[in-house]
Amino acid sequence: MSWITNTLTSTLGRKLSMSLTGLFLVSFLIVHLSGNFLLYKGDGGQAFNLYSNFMSTNGLIRVLEIGLLLGFGIHIWTASILTRMNSAARPIGYAVQKTNEKVSWFSRNMGLSGSIVLFFLIVHLINFWFPYHYQEMPMLDIEGKPYKDMYGLVARIFHDEWWYSVLYLLALVLLGFHLQHGFASAFRTLGLDHKKYNSIIEGIGNIISIILPLGFATMPVYFWFFHTV
Ligand code: HEM
Repeated sequence: MSWITNTLTSTLGRKLSMSLTGLFLVSFLIVHLSGNFLLYKGDGGQAFNLYSNFMSTNGLIRVLEIGLLLGFGIHIWTASILTRMNSAARPIGYAVQKTNEKVSWFSRNMGLSGSIVLFFLIVHLINFWFPYHYQEMPMLDIEGKPYKDMYGLVARIFHDEWWYSVLYLLALVLLGFHLQHGFASAFRTLGLDHKKYNSIIEGIGNIISIILPLGFATMPVYFWFFHTV
């Protein structure tokens, strides 16, 4: 067993778990964004409310939720250890930061963008996940059955509390930069980079890091400006 522990706690092992959990979280974001597009169905929120109800009551989804929690937990925990190890190896810091044109400010500050996205995530779960699971909420009748009105909650938060929309938009910009650097870096760590395919991997990373945040960003913008509650 000790070789497993040794591998997982080595720097390489930590980088591997960061990469694997990072790619897993990207796959969650793709599913989450696709489901959220039901907000635009134009049926007063019926499809979105049925979807939210399915996601929070289906047994298999609840098991996947534990995997998601573990994914976020390992990614964040390992990131904080690697960041601390990096600063311990360089306690004074560079008097003059070496400026390699290929290394952007965002690549050097993954910890900062990740921490702001984490702050956003906590606010986001308090906004939506917590009330849905643990609070009384207005109900919407769908085919004679009452469902918690998650659509109404999304609409109210983005429409009435404009500062949430601003926070979401800022966090989504940072999420974009975080994904852009993280995606290519994960492939490098996993040894899946190759001169021949690097431009394709970078291209996919660029598309993901633009499409995902942009897709999510349409939601606060739509409810803030174009939807009347
Ligand atoms: C800006 C547009 C977004 C909207 C409208 C939105 C909406 C929601 C809603 C309604 C829920 C509650 C679902 C439920 O409990 O059944 C939820 C959960 C969640 N969201 Fe978002 N979300 C957005 C963006 C994001 C982003 C950018 C992230 C990650 C960086 C994220 C991560 C999560 C997580 C981790 C959960 C809990 C998942 C679960 O319990 O299965 N969301 N979101």
